[in-house]
Amino acid sequence: MELTIDRLTKQYQNKIAVDRISLTLTKGVYGLLGANGAGKTTLMRMMCGILRPTSGEVKFNGIDVNHEDYRDVLGYLPQDFGYYPEFTAMEFLCYMGSLKGLTKPRAKEKSAELLDIVSISNMSNRKIKTFSGGMKQRLGIAQAMLNNPKILILDEPTAGLDPKERVRFRNLISQLGADRIVLLSTHIVSDIEDIAGTILMMKDGQIIHKGSLEEIIKAIDGRVFECIVDSRIAEELTNIYPIINLRQENDKVFLRIVCNNKPSQDAICVKATLEDLYLYYFSEVGENE
Ligand SMILES: Nc1ncnc2c1ncn2[C@@H]1O[C@H](COP(=O)(O)OP(=O)(O)OP(=O)(O)O)[C@@H](O)[C@H]1O
Ligand SMILES: [Mg+2]
Repeated sequence: MELTIDRLTKQYQNKIAVDRISLTLTKGVYGLLGANGAGKTTLMRMMCGILRPTSGEVKFNGIDVNHEDYRDVLGYLPQDFGYYPEFTAMEFLCYMGSLKGLTKPRAKEKSAELLDIVSISNMSNRKIKTFSGGMKQRLGIAQAMLNNPKILILDEPTAGLDPKERVRFRNLISQLGADRIVLLSTHIVSDIEDIAGTILMMKDGQIIHKGSLEEIIKAIDGRVFECIVDSRIAEELTNIYPIINLRQENDKVFLRIVCNNKPSQDAICVKATLEDLYLYYFSEVGENE
């Protein structure tokens, strides 16, 4: 099982949204992490054959993204997925199943099975307009799974989920990644650090880091420090270095900071996290929460 992306590029007028990305994905969960506007949706839409690239190609086991056989192995949850509020979950899935070419009895059987997998089978006869954000996202994943895809592409599937739903979601994704390629985008670090075997960090249309959590954290290993300094020094430091965390402590300031050398006498070097790396790369554009 191999999904290959070769020098994939998308240019809008004068904006290069995806810039010559080459990647090979095999079985497992991939987390596409990037700030707003990094190019995640553009990349995913080209991987789904919905958006025509300016140049480059996408192939699964040698089948081109534009070939109808590719459609059969693909499941997709768009970022702006439209639900039909007056449909029940079951009606909705059966309808989507028929669009994907399943016979009526098969669509019904498959829908019931999927509602169970995403743990909303008790809500199969409720109208979608009464669903919470998390329930809708799970329904969205279920519709993407109707054709039992080998490639599952989920664009910001955790948007709007509460912490409890996030945990359930992570478990679901891990299961789904056991025998297919799952690619999910997010700008929330904690959504992928435990489940993505490979993290793809995207910035300005390029994949700037790719690897396991440990591998990509190495980029700033030994450069994350914590210190407590007085406010004048804190101000100097924050003008020079990316700040991960800052909080007032009485008349002093606690800082977590990324810099090449020890920022102050008593600063301690701490273990880097994915969040440190993310904030390091995206803090200057002010996109982080
Ligand atoms: N149809 C379009 N025409 C012109 N520019 C576009 C179009 N679609 C996207 N862009 C631009 O391409 C860049 C990448 O957008 P994209 O939606 O792929 O980012 P994203 O990483 O998915 O962001 P978000 O996290 O906000 O969903 C942005 O600068 C965006 O403004
Ligand atoms: Mg997007």
